[in-house]
Amino acid sequence: MRRYVGKVVFVAGGTSGINLGIAEAFAGEGAKVAVLSRRQDNVETSVARLRTIGVDACGFAVDVRNYDGLSASLESTVARWGPVDIVVSGAAGNFMSAAADMSANAFKSVVDIDLLGTFNVLRAAWPHLRKPGAVALNITAAQSWLPTPLQIHACAAKAGIDQVTRTLALEWSGAGVRVNAIAPGPIANTEGMRRLAPTEAALQAWTDCVPLRRLGTREDINRAALWLCSDDASYITGVVLSVDGGMSLGGSSAIARAMSL
Ligand code: HXC
Ligand code: NAP
Repeated sequence: MRRYVGKVVFVAGGTSGINLGIAEAFAGEGAKVAVLSRRQDNVETSVARLRTIGVDACGFAVDVRNYDGLSASLESTVARWGPVDIVVSGAAGNFMSAAADMSANAFKSVVDIDLLGTFNVLRAAWPHLRKPGAVALNITAAQSWLPTPLQIHACAAKAGIDQVTRTLALEWSGAGVRVNAIAPGPIANTEGMRRLAPTEAALQAWTDCVPLRRLGTREDINRAALWLCSDDASYITGVVLSVDGGMSLGGSSAIARAMSL
């Protein structure tokens, strides 16, 4: 399908992993795609990959904690292609740490990247996004709902992103702008899972938490993102769509397994 021909898509944190997959999926359906992250090498590599798909692409080496840098990147995107149709906010930071060992600054770092960063991205995008049919898509996590040990920073930050999603969906509905989020479960072959499941045993434990009994794939997320931002989802705003094989249903999946269900 070529649902996004001529559309302008801006993906914050779009230079690797799940978010780059989303950027490539939009490009694959004809969109012009801008990506943004901190590291220049990541930006250059991902822009080159996007261009091989055959669409125009550009990138910016900016931290989502830098509001002025974000604003300038969005203005530059609009000067190049015109108003933004879709903004994706997916930049995130993570590491495993017990709360009792975590410094206040470590907690703040993740909250600043994930939660404040998401506010910054959408707030900076707003003047360029403000038109009927435009869409904002946040990348949260099953952990926004599901408390997870060694993840107090990310659980708190992602829960905040869910409320940012719902609040902006209300505030921006009058302008015809939809705001939704995708909450991935554990996705195979990503930096996130390399950090959260550094051993085979840990990876198996994460897989065991998924009722559908497999890790997710980037394609699982891409399909959900393309659908949620399309006209097929034009009556959907303010939702946090779990794409997690049922993980956010919680610990009862272990009971189902024990009962051989
Ligand atoms: C404990 C740590 C730590 C660690 C850093 N800190 N790493 N504490 N364990 N492994 C502490 C530091 O000591 C410091 O506190 C504070 O955090 C800030 O560290 P900086 O290095 O200055 O932070 P910064 O440069 O902002 O880098 C952010 C980062 C880094 C999160 C620490 O790892 C990063 O840039 N990550 C981006 C890529 C990434 O994480 N991708 C995976 C996303 S996956 P002090 O007190 O010493 O000053 C994901 C999955 C979600 O989000 C699913 C579950 C919710
Ligand atoms: P990833 O590959 O590390 O992607 C993170 C991206 O964000 C990178 O492009 C990174 O590039 C950028 N980034 C990080 N900090 C930034 C900052 N301060 N400012 C701007 N850009 C920044 O991680 P991933 O595993 O694919 O995760 C992607 C998203 O999915 C995240 O929102 C994550 O929380 C969510 N998620 C992942 C999983 C999973 O299983 N992996 C599960 C649930 C949710 P630079 O380093 O160049 O800045």
